[in-house]
Amino acid sequence: MKPPLSSSPSSASATLLRKGRISPYIFTLLVFILFITILQSEDFTSYIFRAEFTSDRPFHPDQTIPTSTSKFKQEVEKLAFAIGESENNCDLFRGLWVRDESWPIYEEWECPYIQPQLTCQSYGRPDKGYQKWRWQPYGCSLPRFNATLFMESLRGKRMMFVGDSLNRGQYISMVCLLHRAVAKNAKSLKTSGSNMVFTAEDYNATVEFYWAPLLLESNADHPTTEKITERVIRKGSIDVHGKHWKGVDILVFGCYVWWAKGVEYINILRGSFEDEVKDIVKVRTEEAYGLAMEGMLDWCERNMDPKKTRVFFTSMSPFHQKSSEWGGVPDGNCYNETDLIDDPSYWGYECSKPIMRVISQVFSRSKFPIMFLNVTQLSGYRKDAHSSIYKKQWVPLTPQQIANPMSYADCVHWCLPGVPDTWNEFVFAKLFYP
Ligand SMILES: *[C@@H]1O[C@H](CO)[C@@H](O)[C@H](O)[C@H]1NC(C)=O
Ligand SMILES: *[C@@H]1O[C@H](CO)[C@@H](O)[C@H](O)[C@H]1NC(C)=O
Ligand SMILES: *[C@@H]1O[C@H](CO)[C@@H](O)[C@H](O)[C@H]1NC(C)=O
Ligand SMILES: *[C@@H]1O[C@H](CO)[C@@H](O)[C@H](O)[C@H]1NC(C)=O
Repeated sequence: MKPPLSSSPSSASATLLRKGRISPYIFTLLVFILFITILQSEDFTSYIFRAEFTSDRPFHPDQTIPTSTSKFKQEVEKLAFAIGESENNCDLFRGLWVRDESWPIYEEWECPYIQPQLTCQSYGRPDKGYQKWRWQPYGCSLPRFNATLFMESLRGKRMMFVGDSLNRGQYISMVCLLHRAVAKNAKSLKTSGSNMVFTAEDYNATVEFYWAPLLLESNADHPTTEKITERVIRKGSIDVHGKHWKGVDILVFGCYVWWAKGVEYINILRGSFEDEVKDIVKVRTEEAYGLAMEGMLDWCERNMDPKKTRVFFTSMSPFHQKSSEWGGVPDGNCYNETDLIDDPSYWGYECSKPIMRVISQVFSRSKFPIMFLNVTQLSGYRKDAHSSIYKKQWVPLTPQQIANPMSYADCVHWCLPGVPDTWNEFVFAKLFYP
């Protein structure tokens, strides 16, 4: 009969003690050593870490959200889709834009899915320099976007972007990055109502977009809503939208512009939109944003399995509507801008700072391992990359509008190819090498 290959330390020491080979003094020493070993083991440190991280200590403004989420790595053995680790635990969001003549990753004319709102070259943008900037983190390099690997991983799966028109830009960028790995006659992009669906038949996979600009049920939910001065969200009502995200394998959330542009307060509706007398309270934008973040995380906890699925959140996409913010000409905006802002501490004015603080607070309390894509500051350097007057929204701009860029330039959305491609390089990096 073979002897057992191993036995537990406690039963081994009990046997030693029974046989009287060691003194009680040595036994105590052994127990002590065992205790120290347990103390230093990973489980225990992760337990301490978790306790510290999830405590409700006051938020420090410089606190950063753990984007590579060591917390979550310890909780979930291996994140779904991961095939490796990030180089020296590098913070991908600290770095600089470098000129790269081999950029962009795809050409505007190569991608048939870009909406006319974002095809700047075909609407007459004279320069192309904005396409030739690659994001270089300080501590490592971004892995090269591999569309084949991405599509192979999406086989039989669904990926979905949820949010506003900026998130839709990121969605289109992702479709442009991926479609080259799909055979010509085996792909399509269809739009219906709040949904856009890119189907890759050979892979039985879809990459989708769902319009929910305030995440919670709101008066901006109709997909062709243009301008609403008063924004109303319904407290706690996320399932109205969430039922369309069920069963998705990779989710990418992002919303900001509907919260921030031209509003200081958001109306919170208790009860329903159908109520004759509506119970509404006004709250500050960042407070309302916090409610939406909580709703989103709560939905993820209830509906997503962290062992099989992944969730990302893209932080606020910055605007460049006032050149005074970067010391440019008075009364200017992003129109005619071709350089980057080179002040590394540049942030701009807008209410994005208090919102970032709220995101940090809500996410640091979250039990769900959401990946935070901290794109706000690095995109803030890119005053050169907006669609400006080189676009078509519903109808082309009139000659009078083009002649008046101070009123009509779009300094919110980004040309494609462009800045949102970098956001998707982050998705790629964090998905496969978290
Ligand atoms: C986001 O990244 C910037 C650097 O680009 C950093 O200063 C900031 O602390 C980060 N914010 C969060 C909330 O992680
Ligand atoms: C991309 O991924 C595929 C599938 O994993 C792999 O075969 C290929 O070598 C990768 N290409 C590059 C350039 O790394
Ligand atoms: C296609 O993918 C869906 C999930 O999106 C899955 O339910 C279905 O079984 C897949 N079909 C085939 C033929 O693999
Ligand atoms: C645009 O910029 C160029 C060079 O910076 C300048 O010469 C030109 O006058 C600017 N045009 C307008 C309309 O501001």
